[in-house]
Amino acid sequence: MAQTWDELIQQVKDRLDIVEVISEQVVLKKKGNNYWGLCPFHKDKNPSFCITPHLGIYKCFSCGEAGDALKFIMKTKNMEFKDVIIELADKFGLEIPTTHKSSGTSTKEIKEQMLAATMVAAEYYHDLLIREKDANATIALKYLTKRGIGSDIIKKFHIGIAPKAYTVLYDELKKDFSNEILEKAGLIIKSEKGGYIDRFRNRVIIPIQNENGDFVAFGARALEADQNPKYLNSSDSLIYNKSKLLYGLYTAKDSIKEEDSVVLMEGYFDVISAQAHGIGNCVASCGTSLTAEHVKLLSRYTKSRRIYLSFDTDSAGQKATARGAEIIKDVFAGLGDIKQFDESYVSSDKDKYACEIRVIAPPEGKDPDEFVRSVGADAYKMYMENAPLFIDFQLNNILKNRGKISSPQEKAQFVKQIIPILAEIKNRIIRSEYIDMVAQTLGTDPNAIRTEMRIFERANIPQTERIVKNVTKNDSVLKKAQKNLLSVFLVSDSPFTFTQISEIMGDIEFDDEILIIVKSTIDKLICTVNNVKELIEHLYTEFIENPEAQAILPQLVATAEVYKGLSEEDFENVIRETIDKINHCRQMKETEEIKSLYKGISDDDPEALKIQIQLRDKIKKRQKIGEY
Ligand code: CTP
Ligand code: MN
Repeated sequence: MAQTWDELIQQVKDRLDIVEVISEQVVLKKKGNNYWGLCPFHKDKNPSFCITPHLGIYKCFSCGEAGDALKFIMKTKNMEFKDVIIELADKFGLEIPTTHKSSGTSTKEIKEQMLAATMVAAEYYHDLLIREKDANATIALKYLTKRGIGSDIIKKFHIGIAPKAYTVLYDELKKDFSNEILEKAGLIIKSEKGGYIDRFRNRVIIPIQNENGDFVAFGARALEADQNPKYLNSSDSLIYNKSKLLYGLYTAKDSIKEEDSVVLMEGYFDVISAQAHGIGNCVASCGTSLTAEHVKLLSRYTKSRRIYLSFDTDSAGQKATARGAEIIKDVFAGLGDIKQFDESYVSSDKDKYACEIRVIAPPEGKDPDEFVRSVGADAYKMYMENAPLFIDFQLNNILKNRGKISSPQEKAQFVKQIIPILAEIKNRIIRSEYIDMVAQTLGTDPNAIRTEMRIFERANIPQTERIVKNVTKNDSVLKKAQKNLLSVFLVSDSPFTFTQISEIMGDIEFDDEILIIVKSTIDKLICTVNNVKELIEHLYTEFIENPEAQAILPQLVATAEVYKGLSEEDFENVIRETIDKINHCRQMKETEEIKSLYKGISDDDPEALKIQIQLRDKIKKRQKIGEY
């Protein structure tokens, strides 16, 4: 059935879950009825970003950014309101009114064709390999067998072969797809001679699936030793964003949930081997280093946020481990302690920790792929079960070199390296235990370490932001009172109807430009909406082009929460008292203004008399209001 644009907006809103929308980009922690996280709109150290799900709104108490799910999408994806609605309508399978359908090929259609082309390419490459249709297929199969990859694994991961010749894929796909689509999907490139050639040639093809299982890109491993680069990867495209996608996630999802943990590896073949050998919960980034986006993506699948880093044991891998751990810590900063000790140490409450970082680093010095194949999956699992927490891993890495210490200065140097690591431990008992352990290992005085730690901490007091810096703090008392009055309309269990509230309020005037707009919009909307939730939603939509007005809404909603549960009598009193306060403030303000005029004028000035009379009138009027 055809529907109007407004109806469509409403249907989209009904289907949107603000927590779901925001948790795609912000790691959230539930506290009471609300969810908190680090604000994505400014550099936030403590979680100031709050979502109130039953009202469908978010607000940052530090930078003031606020809105509903739609606004969040608009802001974070930099999209127009109309485009957001259309994209979501597509996602929810809602019909878009013809008046709002865009003409020409939409981005959505282009994406769909790119996905289709990539899927056909993946199948084509795979088919060439398993049916040995290409001369290269035999070489590739031999190569894969040598790597311990048999036909089952080839099928599970849709591994394929790209032939040596220049246009095999292009010739196959150009029948069904335009050059533009094939080029956008990164399957073909313009050749120097003009015309197009295949992007991947003479390589083992590893198709990359997104979270939903769509094929979106390829990693391509060189077949020959002197072929450069070793891996050729698809570039980012409309359907592929490396920094937000993890290789293997589609097949690892269930296992990650089941194990409530995830193993981060470095390479495609690490994931392929590990998953093939029963280590199901592993993923890898695709030729890029780990990003905050990757970590956020993973945090949606693990409740405990237990992340194992299983990188190569070479020095590049070690650096990646340290960097990875820092990124993970950053993402979860402010959401609680990072788990830094074992259950056996102090009993743990699972939800108490923001995250848990462990390191799998078998001493054999192999990458997970080689390790699983040569030493075995069981041995790998054993290393996983006993994987040290990142902090222990860091400390061990430093302390294992203690044999080199040959002077007090060198020992002090060691302690200096260790102090910032220990300073991250918030729990005093655990910290103390670690200090004793380190002191004993180094043969030094634990109290000396404690003193050094105090000096370090004093010099490094974090610039903690205030958690709740009320954005209204600069409002005058008058403006605050006026906002309070408006918020009365937004009390969800108010004992009065909108019309009754309007009547009690009378024709009180507002003297702030934005508040005047908000009030008149409320007046307009209360004739049509059925309840407070609808009123709030409509207000957000009305103010989509007026961010200043929109920013006030969460403040009103927050105040309205305070007015919940009042009796009829109390509710009415709140309104009347607020009006009195507004009138009082206004009088005071006017008096002040007149007084300040009076200041500059001498008594014998005829103007002075006029002002004096005005002043007296004001004061009289004020007394009258006071009597009310
Ligand atoms: N990588 C890349 N481009 C390169 C080298 C590496 O994109 N030229 C990426 C790939 O995603 C690769 C990962 O980095 O899987 C890890 O690199 P490396 O350890 O060299 O790859 P392995 O998977 O161990 O390679 P091999 O096939 O030799 O086992
Ligand atoms: Mn490797």
